[in-house]
Amino acid sequence: MTERIRAAIVKIVDHGDSTTILGPSGALRFDDASAALVRAVLEIHARPVTRDALVAELAARSGGEVPAKPVDDLLALLEREKILVAPTPRPAPAFHGRRVVLGISGAVAAVDAPVLVRGLHALGCDVRIALTRTSRRFLSLPALDALTHHRVWRSLWQRTEDAPVPHINLAEWAELVIVWPASATTIARIAAGDCSDLVSAIVTATRAPVVIAPSMNDAMLGAPPVQDNLDKLRTHGRYVVHGSLGVELAHRPEDRTPMFGPAAAPSAVVELVRHLLTHVVPRPRLPADAAAWERLWSTTPLDQLPWTHDPIDPALQRALEARTGRLLDLGTGTGTVAIAAAQLGYRVTATEISATALGLARRAATTLPILFALDDVTASNLDGTFDVIVDRGVLHCLPIERRDAYARTIAARSATGTTLLVVAHTGGELATHPLAAGELAALFPSFRVVSTTPTTLSGGAAILVELRAA
Ligand SMILES: Cc1cc2nc3c(=O)[nH]c(=O)nc-3n(C[C@H](O)[C@H](O)[C@H](O)COP(=O)(O)O)c2cc1C
Repeated sequence: MTERIRAAIVKIVDHGDSTTILGPSGALRFDDASAALVRAVLEIHARPVTRDALVAELAARSGGEVPAKPVDDLLALLEREKILVAPTPRPAPAFHGRRVVLGISGAVAAVDAPVLVRGLHALGCDVRIALTRTSRRFLSLPALDALTHHRVWRSLWQRTEDAPVPHINLAEWAELVIVWPASATTIARIAAGDCSDLVSAIVTATRAPVVIAPSMNDAMLGAPPVQDNLDKLRTHGRYVVHGSLGVELAHRPEDRTPMFGPAAAPSAVVELVRHLLTHVVPRPRLPADAAAWERLWSTTPLDQLPWTHDPIDPALQRALEARTGRLLDLGTGTGTVAIAAAQLGYRVTATEISATALGLARRAATTLPILFALDDVTASNLDGTFDVIVDRGVLHCLPIERRDAYARTIAARSATGTTLLVVAHTGGELATHPLAAGELAALFPSFRVVSTTPTTLSGGAAILVELRAA
């Protein structure tokens, strides 16, 4: 039986005992009992439901039988008017964790910046906001804080422990910098390499592509100095976004006529960002196979492999201290977990896909009795079962289509009561495939989730999920 759900955007208005639907056929008005039925049907269709489930729920609400014809007629009408539609699975945001700095300057279009932020969030981007001093006149800082869940940067001197020099830290963090809207003043600063303001300093310091959306009165935009500056930006390799039709605020509302000059609409910028993140700065790929991992480990200095510097997080340390027995450490890397576990008295087997990494771990473990094995968790040659299996940062590196093979290995190496400890990104800056606790539960049907604890792992937010084999 087919399910239907309320369309994401509907045009419906209640007035007293009547409800009016503004659909493709025009305004359709329902009164009294019909209006009540429309409202109930729409409320129930906030989630996908079949016709029979709807009728059952209407009957339960009214405490009696519901005549079928009016309901079926109404359902047919609501489908025709595109108010009820087939549910579509919501795809995961394609640009999850992509790092975008949004610089906002003091042009009046700044009032719409939250719309752009929402659009970037809908793509999955991690957005950090930097403001010029004047832009603050057009914006609410607490609202932007709440929207992004990050502090809003507003000065070169707004130092914090993790960002001691904000303009450089943001410039290095960004995969893409957008200046939207870009006032004539900010454009002049950027064109001149003037770093006296946070936004122009970030743009000047970054190696990421920069998108600049000029936004101003059409006479200002046409002025020779502004055009000269825009020419410079184009020459400097900036993406200069053409403006859109808008109005001049200086004129009385009733006298305003359309002009070109205001910044491109947020939706247009979001489309441009989608294009740039796909084609100009594509997501760096983590190695997909053993040879590529070996190449990475054998050719990259360790200080450029951020995960090799993560000490054991306290949540994982506590979980390890609570147990004992045989422990399997998957993807041991430089051996951090294996060594900590061996020091706690576990009999440890540590596996790695890269021989170079395995060598590093072996040397770090010195005399600890750890069994090191070269092994790919998705095509494993291991034997036996373990009391504890630890994965700190392997599963989220795997291409999603290899997760099932991974789960088969875990199941084969587990017995009743085996504890599985998985530390994985829930959001990412390291181009991993972040996971939610629910996804883990679905991946290991013979395990039950015991606990989920937020924890730390370089390159993004992470969770420690503890599962127990039934
Ligand atoms: C109400 C109002 C609206 C303004 N709108 C714009 C605008 O759309 N574009 C622009 O370039 N300047 C605009 N300005 C002027 C800028 O705010 C001013 O040039 C300022 O120096 C920009 O500084 P900033 O680039 O550091 O934010 C506006 C000024 C006021 C008072």
